[in-house]
Amino acid sequence: MLTNRQLFLQHLGQTSLAPMMLEIERAEGIYMYGPHGEKYIDLISGVSVSNTGHGHPRVIEAIKTQVDLYMHLMVYGEFIQSPQVKYAERLTGILPSSLSSVYFVNSGSEAVEGALKLAKRYTGKSRIISFRNSYHGSTHGALSIQGSEIYRNAFRPLLPDTFQIDFNNEKSLGAITKNTACVIVEPVQGEAGIIYPENDFLQKLRDQCNSTGALLIFDEIQTGFGRLGQMFAFERFGVVPDILLLAKALGGGMPLGAFIASREIMSAFVSNPTLGHITTFGGHPVCCAAGLAALNVIIDEKLAESANLKCALFRKELSHHLVSEIRGEGLLLAVKLNNASIIPYVIAHAPEHGLVLDYFLLCNNAFRIAPPLIINETEIIHACKLLKDLLDDAMSNSGKK
Ligand SMILES: Cc1ncc(COP(=O)(O)O)c(C=O)c1O
Repeated sequence: MLTNRQLFLQHLGQTSLAPMMLEIERAEGIYMYGPHGEKYIDLISGVSVSNTGHGHPRVIEAIKTQVDLYMHLMVYGEFIQSPQVKYAERLTGILPSSLSSVYFVNSGSEAVEGALKLAKRYTGKSRIISFRNSYHGSTHGALSIQGSEIYRNAFRPLLPDTFQIDFNNEKSLGAITKNTACVIVEPVQGEAGIIYPENDFLQKLRDQCNSTGALLIFDEIQTGFGRLGQMFAFERFGVVPDILLLAKALGGGMPLGAFIASREIMSAFVSNPTLGHITTFGGHPVCCAAGLAALNVIIDEKLAESANLKCALFRKELSHHLVSEIRGEGLLLAVKLNNASIIPYVIAHAPEHGLVLDYFLLCNNAFRIAPPLIINETEIIHACKLLKDLLDDAMSNSGKK
């Protein structure tokens, strides 16, 4: 009989020649468990998804309750499904009043696609501007605006009339003109290795969009739901977008995405043509029930507020001569090493040290720390001890065969 490992390689579409191949049997809180009793501290949360930890009882209960009532009923936008309605009401209740209309989809990439279409439809223009080193997903439209030529080039031709400009470069904002439909930006660039906006860059971007009529889209798919120490990153910078994109933690561990705008902007999908954007499963009732429960946990347990104190503890406990810089706030950190060549060793050998770590897609001299926001102080201190042992191991052994 073939092992799961062999079946994984034989029957699952592969995305790299070196998948992590970590087999997980169950997960609870900040821990993941392998089939032979292995125990790992999850320091990546499935890339900023499991903000409330694995299997939070309130999320599980909401899922079970909804499964017993109904699962899929009808394509998005036709029936009144109470989990969608309740979640949209709760979400818009904590957002600025201009972000009042939620269109639920299934994933981050789909939220990006929907928002780009909406901006084109609402403004009647086609030009889309994004930023170098950004990541917005892997579908054709999202790929077209992604800020890395390495990922884009193999799939040309892509969406026309898309341009990339430099993040944190005020001069580059001149590329936004009256011909621009929208500008899409991560308020803090994630896959670039946690790059913060400097010198009021987001405000200047907002001003340029206001003066040209371009819609401003914030991709908070990775930065939302408390990850950076406030519920949404835009709150930290005092700049409100025209369209907000959410996914990852939005579904509390279930697949869910959303683009959120004013009623006026969103109404562009209603006519000419009617059904301007369609999704079968978008806003699946079980995912919405899970997401609402998870959001309530984040609010009730003050997980966003406590993320900054936890960040400070990580920074204090993670002092090691290999660590040259820790970028980020809250619980989304880029740990830069003064010797980038050992990062593959660090990530590959993390499980032997009881840890799960990951790369950034567009930054090769740092690794990612993004644990569930429920991680407590004792667990952080323990995780940092394991991390320092791992770095010592990498120092001694990373060059050896
Ligand atoms: C900022 C950002 N936008 C969009 C996406 C795409 O989301 P998904 O993988 O759910 O399509 C990601 C995924 O990593 C992301 O980090």
